[in-house]
Amino acid sequence: MSAAVTGAFSFTGRAIADELLRCGESVRTLSRADAPNDPLRRRIDVAPLSFEPASLRSSLAGIETLYNTYWVRFERGGVSFAGAVANTIELFEAARDVGVQRIVHISVSNADRADDLPYFAGKHQLEKWLAASGIGHAVIRPTLVFGPQDILINNLAWMLKRTPLFLLPGRGDYLVQPVSVGDVARIAVQARAGVVDAAGPDTMSFAALVSMIGAAVRGRARIVSGPRTLGLTINSILGRLVGDVIVTADELEGLSRSLLTTESEPRGTERFADWLREQEAGLGRSYTSELRRNYGADVRHLSP
Ligand SMILES: NC(=O)c1ccc[n+]([C@@H]2O[C@H](COP(=O)([O-])OP(=O)(O)OC[C@H]3O[C@@H](n4cnc5c(N)ncnc54)[C@H](OP(=O)(O)O)[C@@H]3O)[C@@H](O)[C@H]2O)c1
Repeated sequence: MSAAVTGAFSFTGRAIADELLRCGESVRTLSRADAPNDPLRRRIDVAPLSFEPASLRSSLAGIETLYNTYWVRFERGGVSFAGAVANTIELFEAARDVGVQRIVHISVSNADRADDLPYFAGKHQLEKWLAASGIGHAVIRPTLVFGPQDILINNLAWMLKRTPLFLLPGRGDYLVQPVSVGDVARIAVQARAGVVDAAGPDTMSFAALVSMIGAAVRGRARIVSGPRTLGLTINSILGRLVGDVIVTADELEGLSRSLLTTESEPRGTERFADWLREQEAGLGRSYTSELRRNYGADVRHLSP
């Protein structure tokens, strides 16, 4: 086994595993759950992602490069950002113990610019930990990632199709720079060292992004601007109906500061508008629940 990828049955991890296989690498995923019916399963090895040192060392034995996508979107029940930081450090220490030569860690754009937001602060903490660790590593900082099986864009499309009104929090003039998951994977696999932004070729306002999605899926929702607090209230009511946390206050704050953009030359080449055109009826056809996918009873744990 030459490469380990956390979360290859999920979103970014799957694209990284695909890219590694395309490049002729052998891949093991570290995941909480197996996915026997997933077509990728036949092509990769699976080991448990359980944050105990002995289990992690066993899962990482023989690996040269670890690609880490593990993170949590929000705190819930026993899941916290502090816990995710501690878990990731356990993972990195186990990698060092068993002689993994390099870690490619997926962070987030502007990870060092929002220490007041726990998602970003945790990412920043891990970047600093890696920098001081002496382990060979590269840090990849994606902006807003789109592609098959993403949650955010799909659910925006779902809302634009199903609801009569879509409330843009604030004026919607803050910026996003969407990057395709395939581009993120290619950038991660090519990265050798240092901090590398993974951003797409186009920067647009959040309002423009929402309008583009609405047009692509022939959404019936009228898009209007409104106070962020009202947006959060509406999302919380809708969230209760679909059994999910649709968006958090911190995520809206991060968006409103245009944190999902970069100042560097874009490395991604796939255009969001082109990808949208290819989606036809699939995008937003059903709601994808973050809670069910990542926090709920649907996660059937592999034994460590
Ligand atoms: N999606 C974006 O737009 C975006 C933007 C910037 C940065 N990023 C970063 O890119 C990385 C991958 O993101 P993604 O959107 O592709 O995420 P994802 O696939 O939903 O999650 C990544 C992995 O983390 C694990 N995980 C997720 N939620 C968890 C929870 N509540 N408890 C325990 N484990 C959990 C999952 O492990 P299992 O395999 O065991 O299920 C999953 O494979 C993350 O580090 C994220 O911060 C994403």
